[in-house]
Amino acid sequence: MTHINLLYASTEGNTKSFVEKLKKVAIEQGDTLNARLIGDETEYANETEPFFALVPTYLTGGTGTGPEVTEIFTNALGEYIDFGNNARHLKGVVGSGNRNFNVQFNLTAIRYAKKFNVPMIAAYELRGSVFDAEIIYNKIKRNIGEQ
Ligand SMILES: Cc1cc2nc3c(=O)[nH]c(=O)nc-3n(C[C@H](O)[C@H](O)[C@H](O)COP(=O)(O)O)c2cc1C
Repeated sequence: MTHINLLYASTEGNTKSFVEKLKKVAIEQGDTLNARLIGDETEYANETEPFFALVPTYLTGGTGTGPEVTEIFTNALGEYIDFGNNARHLKGVVGSGNRNFNVQFNLTAIRYAKKFNVPMIAAYELRGSVFDAEIIYNKIKRNIGEQ
């Protein structure tokens, strides 16, 4: 039995919906999954166990990947990971977005993976499918303890 901790951001509910799909896969595999939404109201805390971050992409002000692009809505999650020694427990990032954003698709997760020097595990669109959830769940599982 595997235990997985997820921290996620979700403004419009798509990521939350994908987390629910991951929970179903965890149950099917006899694992336990603890998922916590990190938003502006979340108090900082010290993470003591390995965790993965799920982050949708919200960017404004740019037409590409340049520095003029600014992260919005998901900052609380990035700051939470940055708090204390939390980043040491981050094992990888799963990202999402909308492919209509072209080169900016999934860019926040790509930036987080680079910033925290962890694997960019997978990306899916919007709420993701049940199929995405199964594939990505297994990828998350493979990344536990690899660092
Ligand atoms: C203002 C705004 C900006 C967005 N910017 C991007 C973007 O730059 N790249 C991308 O892939 N998706 C972008 N999206 C799409 C969201 O990432 C996508 O809808 C995601 O599923 C939202 O997750 P949530 O419902 O959990 O908040 C944007 C959506 C909005 C409303």
